[in-house]
Amino acid sequence: MRTPTDDSVFETHLPLQGRRQGKVRDVYDLPPDSNGPRLLLVASDRISAFDVVMPTPIPGKGRLLTSIASGWFELLRKQNLVKDHVLSTELPAISGIDESLRHSLQSRTMTCRAAHVVPIECVARGYLAGSGWAEYQTSGTVCGVKLPPGLQQCDRLPTPIFSPATKAVEGHDENISFERAGEIVGADLMRRLRELTLNIYSIAAQYALERGVILADTKFEFGFALDRNGSTTNELMLVDEVLTPDSSRYWPLANFEPGRDQPSFDKQFLRNWLLKLVQSGSWDKTPPGPEVPSEIVAGTVARYEEALQKLFGK
Ligand SMILES: Nc1ncnc2c1ncn2[C@@H]1O[C@H](COP(=O)(O)OP(=O)(O)OP(=O)(O)O)[C@@H](O)[C@H]1O
Ligand SMILES: [Mg+2]
Repeated sequence: MRTPTDDSVFETHLPLQGRRQGKVRDVYDLPPDSNGPRLLLVASDRISAFDVVMPTPIPGKGRLLTSIASGWFELLRKQNLVKDHVLSTELPAISGIDESLRHSLQSRTMTCRAAHVVPIECVARGYLAGSGWAEYQTSGTVCGVKLPPGLQQCDRLPTPIFSPATKAVEGHDENISFERAGEIVGADLMRRLRELTLNIYSIAAQYALERGVILADTKFEFGFALDRNGSTTNELMLVDEVLTPDSSRYWPLANFEPGRDQPSFDKQFLRNWLLKLVQSGSWDKTPPGPEVPSEIVAGTVARYEEALQKLFGK
């Protein structure tokens, strides 16, 4: 824990096996159940932008992220489109941790079925933003898909587009064509992932829109469950986090106006502050990230809170 004065969690060192760290989550092995191996995903208060983890925690972000992802997992489960990896959002018994550590872990964990993760990020885009907007300006396409001329920044796309990316072990994920993704993991699997991604996106985007929120784009990860011997089965699951402000662009519908950048409920607020540093030459998007000032921390927390409130009324 980085800041002793509050209950924010920058990183964890739990007495569990197999600790590994993503940019935001700490992942541990839990003892297997009768179906197979399990993982504990701990959402820390780390925030990353441009694939660089900032040194400043965003207090409470891990809890907000876990609440949002759980809300979506619950909602999607009812749709019966695909299985998911969530077993529980209750903090499991972990021997050897004290009450204060237990308290700080509360509401930031997910016990999941371990998967062999498909090494392709499945992105659905319903609006012209980010790298999609950049590509459209130079070539009139988004992820190779030809679009009508004259679209403006943040315009709604005629139909949502599936755009796969590689899951880079180090550095930035890279957009790739659908064909290339098929070469890496198999064309049949990619067709299935494309259909699932677009179906989940359209259900989620509709749900969000009814609550005054535009889901501009989002990213899913899928994986195959492991069996008791740790071998890969053919049981496909939705894994990782889903539809959080870390993995999605969320815009308030009330302020939506194509032709400019949108105010957002996600990391864009932090990114915009960072971009000013880049423009002034004080940061070059490489680690270490700069300390984030308190007003940007507070503004970021407020945006994640608003997203949870609007989407799930919490
Ligand atoms: N059910 C699962 N089985 C195995 N790995 C999983 C499962 N769900 C999520 N993961 C992995 O756990 C990690 C979560 O950490 P985090 O999201 O912080 O990582 P990240 O920085 O996005 O890393 P990566 O670049 O590997 O995606 C990711 O690598 C994700 O692929
Ligand atoms: Mg991730």
